[in-house]
Amino acid sequence: MEKEVERYRKPTRILHWVHGGAFVMLFLTGLILFVPALGVLAQDGWSRVLHRAAAILFVSAPLIYLPLNGKATLRGLKDAFTWSKEDLGWLKAAPRYYFLGDDKTMPPQAHMNTGQKMWWLMTIVFGLVFFITGLIMAVLDTVIPAAVMQWMVFIHDIAFIVTGCMLLVHIYLSVIHPLMRPLRTGAWSSMARGKVSAEYARSHHVKWYNQIPGTREKKTGETAES
Ligand code: HEM
Repeated sequence: MEKEVERYRKPTRILHWVHGGAFVMLFLTGLILFVPALGVLAQDGWSRVLHRAAAILFVSAPLIYLPLNGKATLRGLKDAFTWSKEDLGWLKAAPRYYFLGDDKTMPPQAHMNTGQKMWWLMTIVFGLVFFITGLIMAVLDTVIPAAVMQWMVFIHDIAFIVTGCMLLVHIYLSVIHPLMRPLRTGAWSSMARGKVSAEYARSHHVKWYNQIPGTREKKTGETAES
């Protein structure tokens, strides 16, 4: 059987699916509020109630995860805010890789590649934007001036449009793009089962792969004993 390595522990996978599910629910109920033509679906205000219920899940899932998984959270936050010259190299090389399948100029990547890091950083920043503007709209709507309320709706809408587009890119690159070998060894498998093939880990995330005990790649000239 093909050798596998662990990529995401169970609590992280549960957080991913619960938070992602809440996001999709927020996106769909938000869409109903956003598009006037869908107003008929918002009758009786059920979409507003569902939007608020999903918002509670969206906020409480990371809050429950955080204290129970302090180390993983800190590691993830550090990853999101650590950027180097290699990330610039990845951004330059990515179009050739994703459109032409040429990975010769792709710099070695750690546990998260630059694209994943960008998505993760956006999740944190826009998660806070949604939370702050949404909370103000939900709780302070009767006390804040109308102009402030309009700004909150506007910022909430911008976040909705940007993250909605990015979600489509995320789904495409995770499960549809031919290079990801969907449903087998790639990104999908890491979030579905927590494991990826050693080959996928080595080819896509070699800096992380080399840190897994017993897997370090030998550099040219190294002997088995070194
Ligand atoms: C903590 C998370 C969130 C909270 C507390 C929140 C709260 C709210 C509230 C109170 C409203 C006003 C609804 C009304 O008219 O009664 C609203 C509208 C909306 N929300 Fe959220 N929301 C959150 C996250 C999201 C997310 C993740 C999305 C989409 C990805 C989203 C998309 C929208 C959209 C499109 C509207 C309609 C705005 C408009 O009328 O133009 N929200 N949200």
